[in-house]
Amino acid sequence: MESEFERKVLMCGIVGYTGTNDATDILIGGLKRLEYRGYDSAGIALGNDEGIESVCRKGRVGDLEQTVAGMQLDGACGIGHTRWATHGTPSEANAHPHLSCEGDIAIVHNGIIENFMELKEELLSRGHEFTSQTDSEVIAHLLEEEYALLAFDDSGQDDIANAQGRRLDRTPDKMIASGDPSVLAQAVSHVTERLIGSYGLAAITSHEPGVIVVARKDSPLVVGAAPDGSYLASDMIALLDATRDVLILEDGQVAELTPSGIALFAREHDELVSCEYETTHIDWSVDSAEKGGYDDFMLKEIHEQPRVIRDTLAGRLVGDRITIDELGMSPAELNLIDKVYIIACGTSYHAGLIAKNLIERWAHIPTEVEVASEFRYRNPIITPTTLVVAVSQSGETADTLAAIRDARIKGARVFGITNVVGSPVARESDGVIYTKANKEIAVASTKSFLGQVVSLTLLALLLAQTKGNLTTGQIRLLFSELADTAEQVEEIISDTTDIDSAALACKDASSALFIGRGMGAATATEGALKLKEISYLHAEAYPAGEMKHGPIALIDEGFPVIAIATKSPTYEKVLSNLQESKARGAMVVAIATQGDEEIGKYADHVIFIPKVRDELSPITASVPLQLFARAIALERGCDVDQPRNLAKSVTVE
Ligand code: G6P
Repeated sequence: MESEFERKVLMCGIVGYTGTNDATDILIGGLKRLEYRGYDSAGIALGNDEGIESVCRKGRVGDLEQTVAGMQLDGACGIGHTRWATHGTPSEANAHPHLSCEGDIAIVHNGIIENFMELKEELLSRGHEFTSQTDSEVIAHLLEEEYALLAFDDSGQDDIANAQGRRLDRTPDKMIASGDPSVLAQAVSHVTERLIGSYGLAAITSHEPGVIVVARKDSPLVVGAAPDGSYLASDMIALLDATRDVLILEDGQVAELTPSGIALFAREHDELVSCEYETTHIDWSVDSAEKGGYDDFMLKEIHEQPRVIRDTLAGRLVGDRITIDELGMSPAELNLIDKVYIIACGTSYHAGLIAKNLIERWAHIPTEVEVASEFRYRNPIITPTTLVVAVSQSGETADTLAAIRDARIKGARVFGITNVVGSPVARESDGVIYTKANKEIAVASTKSFLGQVVSLTLLALLLAQTKGNLTTGQIRLLFSELADTAEQVEEIISDTTDIDSAALACKDASSALFIGRGMGAATATEGALKLKEISYLHAEAYPAGEMKHGPIALIDEGFPVIAIATKSPTYEKVLSNLQESKARGAMVVAIATQGDEEIGKYADHVIFIPKVRDELSPITASVPLQLFARAIALERGCDVDQPRNLAKSVTVE
């Protein structure tokens, strides 16, 4: 028996197409592009004036593709969905699209409807029958009622059952006279008024063939018109083959897609009014979303890191000054900052741990780093002179967004660091730095992480410059060394022999410890996360100085201890920790500085990286840790791009 909590449908992908081509192939192609977001079930629904045909499958999009290959699905208008659930068994019944009782309306939904229980009870009491445990299905039934009220004569709640059986006597053309919203658009708009929670949703009905209506709140949606029709997706990556000029929907907007184009509406006093809109041109190459000759996306993305560093730094040093105009704060305002909070989740949180060290060292501003899900419920002390830095690759992580909103209510200035142009984090922050990583496909973040660390390093330099804690000469030198890391990362990636042999030695372990001090301790946290995410090998990061307070008890013969042992003020102390580990039989893997002749005495495997100053070492030391985790994961037969149970972005709490 599946639990009611099955409703928690997270991190899904939605697509849609209406035009002159066969919709099935287009929808399946779009879902494949989105599969990295969620992959436990998938479905499509095609509509025409005969009705709606819907096919759902548990499993990956490939399973759905095989199923539809054996069917004669006919239609040039449809919607699709790929899903990732948190609780209960993913099942065909819970896969989207969801249909109304009469099967004349289909919807796909990304997000969570918080008041679904209340709505479901209401709908059940009026005779609706549900076929899934999801929250999303209420939308299909609410739409069924709304549609009947708007579209059918002598309608009314009591008459819905009769009304549902009738056909519309109006043709689609009449229903969407130019500038007027379709009945479906009006119905969707009314229904969204009743929804509490987040949604990116798309709906079709057999009564208005060729029309798809979309709406959103706190869940991304983009639409785009192409010569062969109109497209929608929850992520622009699914649109890029068709068009590069997209409309990024705002909360509260409703868009109507037809084969000839897209109309945009906003709700004003209970009415939908037509809006003008401008499209955004996307210049990412589609190829950047493909593997580009590498075995997996993760490897491709690791190799993109030198480019990410260069692009993130481009144009940031103007004369002798670090320049981040997008910050949206004057030097005088910046100078008042007396506290920084960095809020983030997952890998982005680890980038924050690194940045804390930099901001405190260079700018002398007390800095706290906190996971967003804690920050938002903790009532942190925030004043108008607090700068909150929200770090999020996707720019849509639910907890990070909620934390931003809380921080702004409390009067903080919020600065976003994100990879996604126009993402909610970008839109809801006072200023933003884009990490220039381009689309990251592998679930485990690599290039985005490096982009975040480089961006945060820039921010630390800017704060230090504003506070006058670093001279222009120091800033110039640090910037130039930061830029040099691109080449150093290239060098690390070019030869992975030592990394691979260390990975081979550790692949059969059941647990591993990552240690370091200072910058190395922060780097270790991300190293451990990468390993557990993709190889399912338990890994923990500890400040090396804490070893004696517990973790050392874990060490026995062959236990992997991975140490960030680069040259730093605490290098000698790390060596002592390695000695203690070796004395207890640990298999020590050390990330060390080229030219270090001593380290070999303390480690079974040494991975040398180019010499950089301590503050910049997380950039270079993280890269071998990414490659190490990937090598172990591959040795253990894991799918490095789509690790089990994980999703690329977590768009609900
Ligand atoms: C998920 C991803 C991680 C990511 C985290 C935060 O857990 O699998 O790779 O670090 O979300 O995501 P964000 O997009 O906010 O950086």
